[in-house]
Amino acid sequence: MKTTPAPLELSVDRTLQLPIYLQICRRFKTAIAQGHLRAGQRVPAVRALATELNLARGTVETAYRILTDEGYLQVRGAAGTVVSPALPAPAVVTAAPGRFAVAAAGALAPTPGEYHGREPEPLKLGLPALDAFPRKVWNRIAGHRLRTGEPLTMAYPDPAGYGPLRERIATYLGLSRGVTCLPEQVFVTAGYRATLELVLRSLATPDDVFWFEDPGYLQAQLFLRNAGARLQPVPVDGHGLMVEEGVRRAPDARFALVTPSHQSPLGVTLSLERRMALLDWAGKAGSWIIEDDYDSEFRYQGRPLPAL
Ligand SMILES: Cc1ncc(COP(=O)(O)O)c(C=O)c1O
Repeated sequence: MKTTPAPLELSVDRTLQLPIYLQICRRFKTAIAQGHLRAGQRVPAVRALATELNLARGTVETAYRILTDEGYLQVRGAAGTVVSPALPAPAVVTAAPGRFAVAAAGALAPTPGEYHGREPEPLKLGLPALDAFPRKVWNRIAGHRLRTGEPLTMAYPDPAGYGPLRERIATYLGLSRGVTCLPEQVFVTAGYRATLELVLRSLATPDDVFWFEDPGYLQAQLFLRNAGARLQPVPVDGHGLMVEEGVRRAPDARFALVTPSHQSPLGVTLSLERRMALLDWAGKAGSWIIEDDYDSEFRYQGRPLPAL
């Protein structure tokens, strides 16, 4: 998706002269200055952030200590560490106004896929190990919420999603995925198809062409076809989407639907060169990139790749 604010420096870069703990400090300061982290908001625990960024705990501890000494963070013991409540609120960045167009009524009816309404078999594409789901923990937390939750949580919710959840997601995305966004720019949906529907309804017109990875995620393809979108297949090789080929086939496409972190279904990562080419094309053509940041959290080693 297009983001309005300037990109935040988020991935820790070992080739930089600046020590990593200072890179973390800079990242937090930028996030606070741009309003992505707000006064009083809780920041991730040292251990969690160290794991997330694949760093030694001491590195994050040093950064937090500096930020605390400089007055950006405040340690509250067992209640965690928060952005200093005394900090002044930054100017709010708002998203660029979207072009509203609604696809033909009825076009967005659900498209049942091969999993829908069926007993899942083991090792199905796109389904995690359901038997490994932490049912006990989930039950405990859900039970606690039900017993203690405010009545508001059982009334009609904010259609964009539960406020505190959107805040946490915005923080998480900033720190872990390099996505600069405010909670107001986060929309919690019921899944990928609901997200695509939201994108279609708010940004697309029926004539818009979509670059679609070939091979790509079948469910998205079915959904977009049913919605009347015009799909332009763009081949994928060992470096991900062949951007040059997309530009050759459909330079004026309004959307590129991509899975750069973990291409679905091939599993390759979009190379840096092609990432730059894709961003360059979208910038020049004024087109939208719909980034399906699919499976980006699943990795055995290495630091997370930032989102496009
Ligand atoms: C490529 C891809 N994107 C997104 C999703 C997530 O879809 P949903 O949010 O509907 O679970 C999946 C799930 O399998 C997927 O394979």
